[in-house]
Amino acid sequence: MSKRVAILISGGGSNMEALVRSMTGDHPARPVLVLSNVAGVGGLARAEALGVPNVVVDHTQFGKNRAAFESEVDHALRAARPDIICLAGFMRILTPGFISGWAGQILNIHPSLLPRHKGLNTHARALEAGDAAHGCSVHEVTAELDDGPILGQAAMPVQPGDTPDTLAKRLLPMEHALYTRVLQRFASGNRELLRMP
Ligand code: GAR
Repeated sequence: MSKRVAILISGGGSNMEALVRSMTGDHPARPVLVLSNVAGVGGLARAEALGVPNVVVDHTQFGKNRAAFESEVDHALRAARPDIICLAGFMRILTPGFISGWAGQILNIHPSLLPRHKGLNTHARALEAGDAAHGCSVHEVTAELDDGPILGQAAMPVQPGDTPDTLAKRLLPMEHALYTRVLQRFASGNRELLRMP
Protein backbone atom coordinates (compact mmCIF):
# COMPACT_ATOMS: atom_id res chain seq x y z
CA MET A 1 0.00 0.00 0.00
CA SER A 2 1.34 3.41 -0.96
CA LYS A 3 1.90 5.96 1.77
CA ARG A 4 -0.42 8.95 1.51
CA VAL A 5 1.32 12.35 1.49
CA ALA A 6 -0.16 15.78 2.24
CA ILE A 7 1.93 18.85 1.43
CA LEU A 8 1.55 22.19 3.21
CA ILE A 9 2.60 25.35 1.37
CA SER A 10 2.42 29.13 1.66
CA GLY A 11 3.85 30.31 -1.66
CA GLY A 12 5.27 29.33 -5.00
CA GLY A 13 5.29 25.64 -4.30
CA SER A 14 8.39 24.58 -6.22
CA ASN A 15 9.31 22.03 -3.53
CA MET A 16 5.72 20.79 -3.53
CA GLU A 17 5.85 20.34 -7.31
CA ALA A 18 9.14 18.44 -7.10
CA LEU A 19 7.68 16.15 -4.43
CA VAL A 20 4.47 15.53 -6.40
CA ARG A 21 6.38 14.80 -9.62
CA SER A 22 8.66 12.38 -7.79
CA MET A 23 5.80 10.22 -6.49
CA THR A 24 5.25 8.02 -9.53
CA GLY A 25 6.10 4.49 -10.60
CA ASP A 26 7.53 2.34 -7.82
CA HIS A 27 7.79 5.28 -5.39
CA PRO A 28 6.31 4.15 -2.07
CA ALA A 29 4.09 7.23 -1.68
CA ARG A 30 1.44 9.21 -3.52
CA PRO A 31 0.24 12.82 -3.03
CA VAL A 32 -3.29 13.16 -1.65
CA LEU A 33 -3.62 16.84 -0.72
CA VAL A 34 -1.96 20.22 -1.06
CA LEU A 35 -3.00 22.70 1.63
CA SER A 36 -2.08 26.38 1.58
CA ASN A 37 -2.59 28.89 4.38
CA VAL A 38 -2.52 31.69 1.77
CA ALA A 39 -5.17 32.07 -0.94
CA GLY A 40 -4.14 32.66 -4.55
CA VAL A 41 -0.51 31.58 -4.28
CA GLY A 42 1.32 30.05 -7.24
CA GLY A 43 1.59 26.69 -5.49
CA LEU A 44 -2.19 26.24 -5.62
CA ALA A 45 -2.26 26.71 -9.39
CA ARG A 46 0.63 24.27 -9.67
CA ALA A 47 -1.22 21.69 -7.55
CA GLU A 48 -4.32 22.14 -9.68
CA ALA A 49 -2.30 21.68 -12.89
CA LEU A 50 -0.74 18.55 -11.40
CA GLY A 51 -4.20 17.17 -10.59
CA VAL A 52 -3.66 17.11 -6.82
CA PRO A 53 -6.66 18.00 -4.61
CA ASN A 54 -5.94 21.35 -3.00
CA VAL A 55 -7.48 23.46 -0.30
CA VAL A 56 -6.93 26.83 1.36
CA VAL A 57 -7.15 27.38 5.10
CA ASP A 58 -6.56 31.13 5.25
CA HIS A 59 -4.93 31.92 8.59
CA THR A 60 -6.02 35.58 8.37
CA GLN A 61 -9.64 34.44 8.78
CA PHE A 62 -8.84 33.28 12.31
CA GLY A 63 -7.26 36.49 13.62
CA LYS A 64 -5.03 35.70 16.57
CA ASN A 65 -6.83 32.42 17.24
CA ARG A 66 -4.05 30.02 16.28
CA ALA A 67 -5.87 27.07 17.86
CA ALA A 68 -8.89 27.61 15.60
CA PHE A 69 -6.64 27.86 12.51
CA GLU A 70 -4.80 24.68 13.41
CA SER A 71 -8.05 22.87 14.17
CA GLU A 72 -9.25 23.70 10.65
CA VAL A 73 -5.93 22.53 9.14
CA ASP A 74 -6.15 19.35 11.21
CA HIS A 75 -9.72 18.77 10.04
CA ALA A 76 -8.75 19.11 6.36
CA LEU A 77 -5.78 16.80 6.88
CA ARG A 78 -7.79 14.14 8.76
CA ALA A 79 -10.23 14.04 5.83
CA ALA A 80 -7.31 13.26 3.47
CA ARG A 81 -5.87 10.57 5.81
CA PRO A 82 -2.18 11.27 5.15
CA ASP A 83 0.54 8.99 6.51
CA ILE A 84 3.14 11.71 5.97
CA ILE A 85 2.82 15.52 6.01
CA CYS A 86 5.50 17.50 4.15
CA LEU A 87 5.93 21.16 5.01
CA ALA A 88 7.23 22.75 1.81
CA GLY A 89 7.68 26.48 2.24
CA PHE A 90 4.89 26.50 4.85
CA MET A 91 5.52 29.72 6.75
CA ARG A 92 3.29 29.31 9.82
CA ILE A 93 4.67 28.01 13.08
CA LEU A 94 2.74 24.95 14.20
CA THR A 95 2.13 24.56 17.92
CA PRO A 96 3.16 21.51 19.96
CA GLY A 97 -0.53 20.60 20.30
CA PHE A 98 -0.95 20.25 16.56
CA ILE A 99 2.38 18.52 16.07
CA SER A 100 1.73 15.93 18.79
CA GLY A 101 -1.35 14.81 16.86
CA TRP A 102 0.94 13.83 13.97
CA ALA A 103 4.01 12.72 15.91
CA GLY A 104 6.73 11.25 13.70
CA GLN A 105 4.76 11.98 10.53
CA ILE A 106 5.72 15.60 9.68
CA LEU A 107 8.77 16.55 7.61
CA ASN A 108 10.07 20.04 6.86
CA ILE A 109 12.62 21.51 4.49
CA HIS A 110 14.63 24.38 5.91
CA PRO A 111 17.03 26.54 3.86
CA SER A 112 20.11 26.23 6.05
CA LEU A 113 22.54 23.65 7.36
CA LEU A 114 20.77 23.02 10.65
CA PRO A 115 21.43 23.52 13.49
CA ARG A 116 22.81 26.74 11.99
CA HIS A 117 20.33 29.50 11.19
CA LYS A 118 16.99 28.31 12.49
CA GLY A 119 14.10 30.64 11.68
CA LEU A 120 13.90 33.24 8.91
CA ASN A 121 16.33 35.07 6.56
CA THR A 122 18.73 32.13 6.47
CA HIS A 123 20.61 33.20 3.34
CA ALA A 124 21.39 36.68 4.67
CA ARG A 125 22.39 35.24 8.02
CA ALA A 126 24.77 32.70 6.42
CA LEU A 127 26.46 35.59 4.57
CA GLU A 128 26.60 37.81 7.67
CA ALA A 129 28.18 34.96 9.62
CA GLY A 130 30.83 34.52 6.92
CA ASP A 131 29.88 30.86 6.45
CA ALA A 132 32.06 29.02 3.93
CA ALA A 133 29.23 26.61 3.21
CA HIS A 134 25.46 26.95 3.06
CA GLY A 135 22.73 24.49 2.26
CA CYS A 136 19.42 22.97 3.21
CA SER A 137 18.12 20.38 5.64
CA VAL A 138 15.13 18.06 5.76
CA HIS A 139 14.14 17.18 9.30
CA GLU A 140 11.34 15.64 11.29
CA VAL A 141 9.14 18.26 12.87
CA THR A 142 9.03 18.28 16.66
CA ALA A 143 7.69 20.82 19.13
CA GLU A 144 10.85 22.99 18.94
CA LEU A 145 11.20 25.21 15.83
CA ASP A 146 13.53 23.76 13.13
CA ASP A 147 14.90 21.31 15.66
CA GLY A 148 13.76 17.72 14.98
CA PRO A 149 16.02 14.85 13.89
CA ILE A 150 17.83 15.71 10.66
CA LEU A 151 17.10 13.23 7.86
CA GLY A 152 19.10 14.86 5.06
CA GLN A 153 21.40 17.75 4.24
CA ALA A 154 22.73 19.19 0.99
CA ALA A 155 25.65 21.61 1.16
CA MET A 156 27.25 24.02 -1.31
CA PRO A 157 30.14 26.48 -1.06
CA VAL A 158 29.40 30.16 -0.56
CA GLN A 159 31.10 32.03 -3.42
CA PRO A 160 32.65 35.50 -3.47
CA GLY A 161 29.99 38.05 -4.43
CA ASP A 162 27.09 35.87 -3.31
CA THR A 163 23.96 37.70 -2.16
CA PRO A 164 20.91 36.29 -0.38
CA ASP A 165 19.25 36.06 -3.80
CA THR A 166 22.07 34.18 -5.51
CA LEU A 167 22.26 31.75 -2.59
CA ALA A 168 18.50 31.17 -2.67
CA LYS A 169 18.52 30.62 -6.43
CA ARG A 170 21.43 28.17 -6.33
CA LEU A 171 19.99 26.31 -3.35
CA LEU A 172 16.44 25.77 -4.61
CA PRO A 173 17.22 22.93 -7.08
CA MET A 174 19.29 21.30 -4.34
CA GLU A 175 16.27 21.52 -2.03
CA HIS A 176 14.17 19.73 -4.64
CA ALA A 177 16.75 16.97 -5.08
CA LEU A 178 17.21 16.52 -1.33
CA TYR A 179 13.53 16.60 -0.35
CA THR A 180 12.46 14.13 -3.03
CA ARG A 181 15.16 11.66 -2.02
CA VAL A 182 14.50 12.00 1.70
CA LEU A 183 10.75 11.57 1.22
CA GLN A 184 11.28 8.41 -0.83
CA ARG A 185 13.55 6.98 1.87
CA PHE A 186 11.27 8.08 4.72
CA ALA A 187 8.22 6.53 3.04
CA SER A 188 10.16 3.25 2.83
CA GLY A 189 10.96 3.43 6.56
CA ASN A 190 14.56 4.68 6.20
CA ARG A 191 15.37 7.54 8.60
CA GLU A 192 19.15 7.42 8.25
CA LEU A 193 20.88 10.73 7.58
CA LEU A 194 21.39 11.39 3.85
CA ARG A 195 24.18 13.77 2.85
CA MET A 196 24.32 15.34 -0.60
CA PRO A 197 26.07 15.78 -2.92
C1 GAR B 1 12.14 27.17 0.19
O1 GAR B 1 13.40 27.76 0.01
C2 GAR B 1 12.06 26.52 1.57
O2 GAR B 1 13.26 25.94 1.99
C3 GAR B 1 11.72 27.71 2.43
O3 GAR B 1 10.78 28.45 1.67
C4 GAR B 1 11.05 28.24 0.27
C5 GAR B 1 9.77 27.80 -0.40
O4 GAR B 1 9.91 27.75 -1.79
N1 GAR B 1 11.17 27.30 3.68
C6 GAR B 1 11.35 27.99 4.82
O5 GAR B 1 11.96 29.03 4.87
C7 GAR B 1 10.71 27.36 6.03
N2 GAR B 1 11.06 28.08 7.21
P1 GAR B 1 8.85 26.93 -2.67
O6 GAR B 1 7.45 27.46 -2.27
O7 GAR B 1 9.18 27.28 -4.07
O8 GAR B 1 9.01 25.48 -2.37
